[in-house]
Amino acid sequence: MFNLGSLVLWLVVILSCLSFCTGNSVTYDSNAIIINGKRRIIFSGSIHYPRSTDAMWPDLIKKAKDGGLDAIETYIFWDRHEPQRQKYDFSGNLDFIKFFQLIHDAGLYVLMRIGPYVCAEWNYGGFPVWLHNMPGIEFRTDNKVYKNEMQTFTTKIVNMCKQANLFATQGGPIIIAQIENEYGNVMTPYGDAGKTYINWCAQMAESLNIGVPWIMCQQSDAPQPMINTCNGFYCDNFTPNNPKSPKMFTENWVGWFKKWGEKDPHRTAEDVAFSVAKFFQFGGVLNNYYMYHGGTNFGRTSGGPFITTSYDYDAPLDEYGNLNQPKWGHLRQLHASIKLGEKILTSSTRSDRNISSSVTLTTFSNPTTGGRFCFLSNTDASNDATIDLEADGTYFVPAWSVTILDGCNKEVYNTAKVNTQTSVFVKEQNEKENAQLSWTWAREHMRDTLLGTGTFKANQLLEQKGFTVDVSDYLWYMTNVDIDQTSSPRDVTLQVNTKGHVLHAFVNRRHIGSEWANNGQSFVLEKPISLKSGTNTITLLSATVGLKNYDAFYDMVPTGIDGGPVYLIGSGNVTTNLSSNSWSYKVGLNGEMKQFYNPTFSSKVKWRPFEHKSIRRRMAWFKTNFKIPSGVDPVVLDLQGMGKGHAWVNGQSIGRFWPSFIAGNDNCSETCDYRGAYESNKCVGNCGNPSQRWYHIPRSFLSGDTNTLILFEEIGGNPKQISVQTITIQTICGHANEGSTLELSCQGGRIISEIQFASYGNPEGKCGSFKHGLWNVVNTLLLVEKACIGKENCSIDVTGESFEISDATSSLASLAVQALCSKK
Ligand SMILES: *[C@@H]1O[C@H](CO)[C@@H](O)[C@H](O)[C@H]1NC(C)=O
Ligand SMILES: *[C@@H]1O[C@H](CO)[C@@H](O)[C@H](O)[C@H]1NC(C)=O
Ligand SMILES: *[C@@H]1O[C@H](CO)[C@@H](O)[C@H](O)[C@H]1NC(C)=O
Ligand SMILES: *[C@@H]1O[C@H](CO)[C@@H](O)[C@H](O)[C@H]1NC(C)=O
Ligand SMILES: *[C@@H]1O[C@H](CO)[C@@H](O)[C@H](O)[C@H]1NC(C)=O
Repeated sequence: MFNLGSLVLWLVVILSCLSFCTGNSVTYDSNAIIINGKRRIIFSGSIHYPRSTDAMWPDLIKKAKDGGLDAIETYIFWDRHEPQRQKYDFSGNLDFIKFFQLIHDAGLYVLMRIGPYVCAEWNYGGFPVWLHNMPGIEFRTDNKVYKNEMQTFTTKIVNMCKQANLFATQGGPIIIAQIENEYGNVMTPYGDAGKTYINWCAQMAESLNIGVPWIMCQQSDAPQPMINTCNGFYCDNFTPNNPKSPKMFTENWVGWFKKWGEKDPHRTAEDVAFSVAKFFQFGGVLNNYYMYHGGTNFGRTSGGPFITTSYDYDAPLDEYGNLNQPKWGHLRQLHASIKLGEKILTSSTRSDRNISSSVTLTTFSNPTTGGRFCFLSNTDASNDATIDLEADGTYFVPAWSVTILDGCNKEVYNTAKVNTQTSVFVKEQNEKENAQLSWTWAREHMRDTLLGTGTFKANQLLEQKGFTVDVSDYLWYMTNVDIDQTSSPRDVTLQVNTKGHVLHAFVNRRHIGSEWANNGQSFVLEKPISLKSGTNTITLLSATVGLKNYDAFYDMVPTGIDGGPVYLIGSGNVTTNLSSNSWSYKVGLNGEMKQFYNPTFSSKVKWRPFEHKSIRRRMAWFKTNFKIPSGVDPVVLDLQGMGKGHAWVNGQSIGRFWPSFIAGNDNCSETCDYRGAYESNKCVGNCGNPSQRWYHIPRSFLSGDTNTLILFEEIGGNPKQISVQTITIQTICGHANEGSTLELSCQGGRIISEIQFASYGNPEGKCGSFKHGLWNVVNTLLLVEKACIGKENCSIDVTGESFEISDATSSLASLAVQALCSKK
């Protein structure tokens, strides 16, 4: 007889076996991450899903895999997922489950850093601002209200991953998860409560039973079994607090973030590779690049104050997803070289021998197999070294570099010898229709606020973010001052003390000044004004530009005019204190609330023809249409000439803009020496230019033929200068040493159309300024042309043979090529 009961039982057995049998166990010891019994070294890179679009994800993941990564790391962004308490959003580029599934499909692992405090130069460090307003709450400490919310959100994220079978034990990609974030850096001011809190974090995380290890970064007292990990530019000196824990570098900063008014950071490929190689030399097991793709702070997601919309970070994939060469390729070769030693590195004892005060030979040897793998480092910042390892050979180790020796006797990589091509990108305007955009404009209606009418009153100056709950950058503060004809002074100075970040002041409907501090901190606005007899209206518009994201108690740092004081100072220093006046308030702009930026609603707006007078108009909306640029190259908006504001394409935010904020003029130099310890203001660029001129428009924001661009401009600019452009590789250069291979590649279907320079011999200089050296094979150019012209990519073995010379070439020979990429 057919027995339903036993069939169900069998199904249960089969299904549980399926999940069990396809699951991966993840364990570790001090030498390896052990996945399904396999001892692994892991290369990982940070890609934050909301800093690109879901349409960009597959390409970014593919390039990460091609770059030799095993895993992708991301934070989880609480403020985006829970914009209002218990109202969740996991749509579009917030669909982190889909992001993880795509990573899994590509055959890569996931490191999930939940936080849910994330820092990340993200608005308010990833905390939703409503959390700040919960009665009795204190952030990141032993506080019941806070811990409840943190636990609820963390549990929700973990359960979503479990339901989608995303943990490794379920057959999914997540091999490691993180709770909290860099708490050790700021813990001391929280006192004993901080210690109680971090212990609670560990217990709470453990109780979620995810089956893979938990980590805490920058937490030297991490409660077991949390693994503490290191963030920084170099972590080779780091030791975990448990000798059984693997040594992990959760954030290897490949560059740096940028603030409005700052220069472009640059960390060389040589120095990043040096940091990684040294980390593995001294027992590293996992290295994660922060960032691998930095991307864009769309909307109002940038942290602060004053983090720019671009979060490029000088990462191996640039803001738009292009390969940032030579960084991407140089690291790719590094990964392949270290992987040659994976078996030995994860199962051997290490021994270091100091050959001199700056040269160290590290040997990993496996007594059972007899396998050896070596690192030879030179940490001197200026002196190269030639090291004789006797039977194992002689090696030239440039200053500040690490040589990797497969079998301890064959150089497979040196961090300072870059063979990868350099790509020089240019912006192009390739649609005639987009050359002269035709603009209309509309007023931001301010009649209500200029007349002092708000929606709420208080006899004090309120803190901004708590009052706006950050639904807008803007808060209006308005008050009336009555002047009695006989006694009061009329010519006075208005003094406003504000906590920032930007202030626009109006008196009796007239703009009297705008101000901000260079770093987004507190400042004092002081302007002479003339009051009339009768009632005068003072209107102050305060704007935040990214909420603070880091430091002990950073969440309590006030914004806006908060307490002021606000004074009128007359002759003889007779002062009227307006701080406790009746102040009227209004959150946001009228145009914002009516969605002027959304083409659907903006049809109701009275758009006026653009005239010369419209240039430099403050507090105005501008609108135009443009054609989608053909091809596949990334699209950018050139906002040079604009002041400060926010831009939308087809209703989707491409972020705040502030091109009038110019980067300082000091400390940029043509040359950048990779040698010596990196810090964020070494090798900066873009001096004296807008700190951010170009703004990414993801292609998935564009459609059909006509696209609508709408801007809100706060301080005045010239929209006539705006253009839509694409970014493409124009010049590519390579300089590779004897014995290696020179690979050149265009992108976007372009081909190599011209060889501008080619020399096999001892050429000098760098991309853009190569020169022939003392000797040079005369037909180099012809041979390179033959190999490369008309192709999307080409590769040339750098040997005497390739250049048809047989008499022993010097091992110091090299090949330098500069080529041009063009449309087919
Ligand atoms: C090599 O030198 C470094 C720094 O000078 C020192 O910390 C280390 O202990 C030395 N190693 C050996 C094996 O002598
Ligand atoms: C007003 O105060 C300022 C600053 O405190 C001082 O420099 C100035 O001399 C004062 N003027 C008078 C007229 O007292
Ligand atoms: C002005 O008023 C504010 C709020 O009432 C007060 O905190 C501040 O001390 C006053 N300033 C002076 C100089 O009295
Ligand atoms: C200029 O760069 C040097 C190091 O490269 C740094 O020490 C210094 O602080 C920088 N100066 C400024 C103004 O950024
Ligand atoms: C080189 O170009 C060919 C097409 O000409 C393409 O199929 C191939 O994928 C390219 N290889 C690389 C490494 O880009």
